[in-house]
Amino acid sequence: MKFFIDTANLEQIKEAQALGILDGVTTNPSLMAKEGITGAGNILQHYVDICNIVDGDVSAEVIATDFDGMVKEGEALAALHPQIVVKLPMIADGVKACKYFSDKGIKTNVTLVFSAGQALLAAKAGATYMSPFIGRLDDISTDGLGLISEIRHIYDNYGFETQILAASVRHTMHIMDCAKIGADVMTGPLSAIKGLLKHPLTDIGLAQFLADYKRGN
Ligand code: E4P
Repeated sequence: MKFFIDTANLEQIKEAQALGILDGVTTNPSLMAKEGITGAGNILQHYVDICNIVDGDVSAEVIATDFDGMVKEGEALAALHPQIVVKLPMIADGVKACKYFSDKGIKTNVTLVFSAGQALLAAKAGATYMSPFIGRLDDISTDGLGLISEIRHIYDNYGFETQILAASVRHTMHIMDCAKIGADVMTGPLSAIKGLLKHPLTDIGLAQFLADYKRGN
C-alpha cells in the first residue's frame, strides 16, 4: 500500500519524507488555507515546493467546476512539475475532464467520492487515483471502510487499473483496516502514520536491551 500524507504543511511533509516511507502527497483548498497559503501565485509555488521535497505524486486540486475551466487549470497545474496529479471533483464535468486528461496521459485523482457508483464512473473515465472519503462517511454514521471493500470488489471484477486512494483517513486504525481490505493508497495525517510506530512492548524491550548492555559493559 502506498502512503500519501494529506497536508500542505511543509514541515510535516519533510518529516514523513525523512522517515523513508512516503509515496506522495494530497492537498486540497482547505489544507492550503489552513497553512495560510492564499492567492493563485502562492498556491502554485507551494505545489512546486512540495514536489521538491517528495519523490512521488502530488495531487493539486482544480478550483473550476466547468469542463473548460478544469481543463485550463489542470493543464497549468500539470505543467508546473512532472509529479503533479490533477485533482478533479466527482461531478459530471469532472468526469469529462478526467477522461480528457487520461487520454492525454496526464495523471488524475478524482476526489470527493462517496459511493461505489461514483467510483465506477471514475474508473471508466480512466482516473489514475479515485479518492473515497472514509472519515467523512464515518462522521455521518455511514461505513467508510465498507465503501472501500465494495469498490475493491468492483474494481477487481473488471481489472480496473484506477488506484483506490483511501482519503479522509483520520487515525491509525483506518490505515490498518484499509491495508487489510486492499486499498492501493491511503492518505492521512502524519499523526495517523506515526501511530503505526507505537507499541509499549517495543519501548519496554528496547529499555531492557539498553539496561542489559550497560550492565555488561
Ligand atoms: C483527500 O484528498 C482529502 O484532502 C482529505 O483526505 C480530506 O480529509 P478530511 O475529511 O479529514 O478533511
